[in-house]
Amino acid sequence: MERLQKVIAQAGVCSRRKAEALIARGRVRVNGKVVTEPGTKVSGSDAIEVNGKVLDKEDKVYYLMNKPKGTICSVSDDKERKTVLDYLPKDKRIYPVGRLDFDTSGILLLTNDGEFTNRMIHPRYHVPKTYTINLQGMLTPEDIQRLKTGLKTRDESYQPAKVRILQKDYTRDRMILELTISEGKNHQVKNMMEALGHEVRKLNRKSFGPLSAEGMKPGEYRVLKRHEIRELLRLAAEGEQRREGEER
Ligand code: URA
Repeated sequence: MERLQKVIAQAGVCSRRKAEALIARGRVRVNGKVVTEPGTKVSGSDAIEVNGKVLDKEDKVYYLMNKPKGTICSVSDDKERKTVLDYLPKDKRIYPVGRLDFDTSGILLLTNDGEFTNRMIHPRYHVPKTYTINLQGMLTPEDIQRLKTGLKTRDESYQPAKVRILQKDYTRDRMILELTISEGKNHQVKNMMEALGHEVRKLNRKSFGPLSAEGMKPGEYRVLKRHEIRELLRLAAEGEQRREGEER
């Protein structure tokens, strides 16, 4: 059983919040009866109508894109900047799985499957994402240790990260490193580096679980293969089990 607004949103009609408003306004029927209580639980066999139209159980789609720098990860933009959705077919209400900043490039998943999205981005599922960071300044061994054990700042606390130093440029005081994290807090990588006193010059997400966008041009996308979706969901289930084990 799922909450009514979630089912409506997952069918691609509108956002969850708008679905709640439609329910409250009496625009939704379940098995012919008007339901005004958001949160009402429904099952796959219930017939749902929104504004008099029977809910289509939309096929799920999953894309992998190499997000170009200079695009935003939202459905529309009031400043009319290019969004990642401008690159994709427009026949379904798809949205990005989490966000990459305007100036970040790299692997991005997009789907119309809300449950899949939740499993990919919620920290409890521990799906690892690796970023390549072009950093102004050098991390010290103490900085690296803080990242590895779980960086704590005045306002935030981050789970332990994996760190791999790829290059050090002493003349320009820059380094290139890889950081693997399983959370997806807003501007997380930049904030972590800023907390250590450094500015991120360039950021690329290199991998998402076992997947990467290597070899794809900026803006290029492809449909995820079934075994890739299965593997991502398996990773999320494993991550959740591991976490539950650690909490016990
Ligand atoms: N962390 C950031 O700071 N920015 C991104 O785009 C992704 C992770």
